[in-house]
This record gives sequence, C-alpha cells and structure tokens, in this order.
Amino acid sequence: MTLPIAIIGTGIAGLSAARALKEAGHLVQLFDKSRGSGGRMSSKRSDAGALDMGAQYFTTRDRRFVNEVQRWQALGVAEQWQPQLYHFKSGQLTPSPDEQIRWVGTPRMSAITRALLDDLPVQFGCRITEVFQGQQHWSLLDADGGSHGPFSQVIIATPAPQATALLAAAPKLASVAAAVKMEPTWAVALAFEHPLDTPMEGCFVQDSPLDWLARNRSKPGRDSSLDTWVLHATSAWSKAHLDLPRESVIEYLHGAFAELLHSAMPAPSFSLAHRWLYARPAGAHEFGVLADADLGLYVCGDWCLSGRVEGAWLSGQEAARRLIEHLQ
Ligand code: FAD
Ligand code: NAI
Repeated sequence: MTLPIAIIGTGIAGLSAARALKEAGHLVQLFDKSRGSGGRMSSKRSDAGALDMGAQYFTTRDRRFVNEVQRWQALGVAEQWQPQLYHFKSGQLTPSPDEQIRWVGTPRMSAITRALLDDLPVQFGCRITEVFQGQQHWSLLDADGGSHGPFSQVIIATPAPQATALLAAAPKLASVAAAVKMEPTWAVALAFEHPLDTPMEGCFVQDSPLDWLARNRSKPGRDSSLDTWVLHATSAWSKAHLDLPRESVIEYLHGAFAELLHSAMPAPSFSLAHRWLYARPAGAHEFGVLADADLGLYVCGDWCLSGRVEGAWLSGQEAARRLIEHLQ
C-alpha cells in the first residue's frame, strides 16, 4: 500500500508543495488549524464584503513563479491591480506612481489557494500538536487528541515558531527554525458609507504607526457597496501594542489614517481588527527548504526564502522537489 504524504498548513507554501507532489503522482493529505485555506494569504468574509487582511498583493521575479501566476490568471483567480499609489513621509502625502506589476487574487485573495486546493484531501479545524515516527512511518496528533496516519513523509508548511514546536523528531531542523524570529502585524479594516475624498488607492507609509494602507474596493472584482480600506501597522507598533484590545487598535489606527489624510475622517460604518502574530520573518533567510530526507521530514514557508508570497510558493516547490528527488 502506498502511504500518503502529510502536509501541515494550507497556506501558499503547503499548497504549492501539495500540487507539485500530486502532479508527480503522489498521494497527499493536508491539515490546517483554520476553517479554510490561505493562511496569511486569506481573506475575511464580513458585512462589508471580503477583505484582504493579510497579503495585499504580490510581485513576481522568479521565472517559475511568473509562469504559475499566468496559470492563475488563465484560471480567472488572479488579476493585475494598478492602484493609484502614494507615499507618506515626514507628514507629507505625495503621489508615488511606478512601473511595478502587482497581482491580487480575484474576486478575493483567498481565491488562489481555493483553486490550488481544489479536490485535494484536507482536514480543517485540525491543529497538529505532535509529529512522531513509528515503525517506518509517521503519525500526527492533534489538539483534540485525535491521531492521523500512517504517512510516508511529512511536510511542515507553517510559520517558523509553529514549525519548531512540531520538530521534536529532528532536533537539528528544530534549532534552525527556532532561530528564525517572526514579527507581528496588526491589521484593521474600515468601511465608510460615503467614499473618502481622496484618489489614493494604496500608500506606503513612513514615520507613522502605519506601514501600509489600501483601498480594498479598488482591487479587481471586489463588489462592496462601501468604501473599504485595510490598514497595516508597522512591526514595531504592533509589537509594542500586541495585547491592546481590538477596539483601541481600531481607534488608534483610524486616527493615524485621519492624520495622514489631514482630514476629520467620518466614523466608519464597519470596522474590524486582526492580529497576525507571525506576520513576517524579522530577518532575511535563503534556506529554500529545511530537510532531513533520510528521516522523511521537510519544512517550508515564506521564512525559508523572501518572506513574501513568491518566496512561500517557491519554498513549497523546493520541498516537493527535494522529496521527489530522494524517492528516485
Ligand atoms: P501561512 O500563510 O502562514 O500558512 C501556514 C498555515 O499553517 C496557516 O494556514 C495556518 O493556519 C497553518 N498552521 C499553522 N500551525 C499549524 C498547526 N500546528 N496545525 C495545523 N495547521 C497549522 N506578501 C507579499 O508578497 N505581499 C504583500 O503585500 C504581503 N503583505 C502581507 C501583509 C500581512 C499583514 C501579512 C501577515 C503578510 C503579508 N505578506 C505579503 C506575506 C505573505 O502573506 C506570506 O509570505 C505568505 O502568505 C506565507 O505563506 P506560507 O504558506 O508560508 O504561510
Ligand atoms: P513592492 O515591490 O511593491 O514593495 C517593496 C517595497 O518597496 C515596499 O515595502 C515599499 O517600501 C517600496 N515601494 C515599492 N513601490 C513603491 C512606491 N511606488 N512608492 C514608494 N515606495 C515603494 O512589493 P514586494 O517586494 O513584493 O513586497 C511586498 C510587500 O508586502 C512589501 O510592501 C512588504 O512590506 C509587504 N509585506 C508585509 C508584511 C506584513 O506583515 N505587514 C509581511 C510581508 C510582506
């Protein structure tokens, strides 16, 4: 009997690995603690429509990723986004157009991982707490005491701190993952009945608690009747205000947004805040993938490469490539 390969995490890295393995004829079984796929590339359904609270857009530099994004475009789940970009520095808001091509999922960011997941077997709402080796195969335990297996190999595709906790069977990999620190981001969505009086659709921010803001509704395919915005705080502000109540985070970042626009901003008709605890790696790494091929254990994710959507996808490809290579 051919045993499936377990993949923990249905973010872009886990799904990238899963698709490559399936195409090579392997069986996979995915697990995610969340209710749906996408991880940091997911969107939140809300009364103001779907909101991209994590990844805002992505750029393509590597040829393999360029080809994959073209495939997503052909499937109708990705389109270019050409926002009117601004830059805010030392209290000055200035237009900042550029030539960069930026992509988004359509009609929401999570459409991409939904398409990748397709009919792959997955268990959602399943937080894996232990990965252990029995006689020549792997088993997983979940937070509700359930056990899963047997599996021939395991790919862990989670942020570094969550991967570290699952790497008791491979102390060397665990110590590499443990050395990768990840920083938080507070994200706030605001929706206004009447459109704000600004042509701005995206803004890179400096010298403020804010790092970035986007007019969510300006992305292709978004159908909200409200003027929806997503605000991201800097890592430093997020770290310093990690345990602030959600309402206070909303109030603070709403205030910073008003300051940036130099206007008395109306109260939003809808707001929500989301805390990403492991939003981005604190430093740059070029692992590609962490692997103990003899054991049959692989670790991938954005933190193994660029800390961006592209890096996560490439890292998943690398995990699949190394695993397939070892089996040949
Ligand atoms: P994740 O998306 O984090 O996926 C990991 C998955 O593992 C999650 O679904 C999680 O639920 C699951 N999981 C974790 N632990 C367990 C467990 N124990 N058991 C089961 N499941 C588990 N990138 C860009 O390129 N452009 C941007 O504009 C951009 N903006 C961003 C803004 C924010 C606020 C954030 C947070 C990230 C942003 N990024 C951006 C980064 C981008 O989102 C990530 O690089 C990418 O989505 C990471 O994918 P991943 O698969 O490596 O990890
Ligand atoms: P990119 O090339 O658009 O941006 C890279 C960086 O260049 C920006 O952060 C910004 O500082 C600068 N920049 C780009 N265009 C600019 C313009 N027109 N005017 C002024 N500054 C400009 O995209 P790339 O390289 O794909 O990066 C992805 C984005 O995702 C970055 O902005 C990064 O900060 C963000 N990100 C956010 C995370 C979070 O947790 N908040 C996590 C990971 C990525």
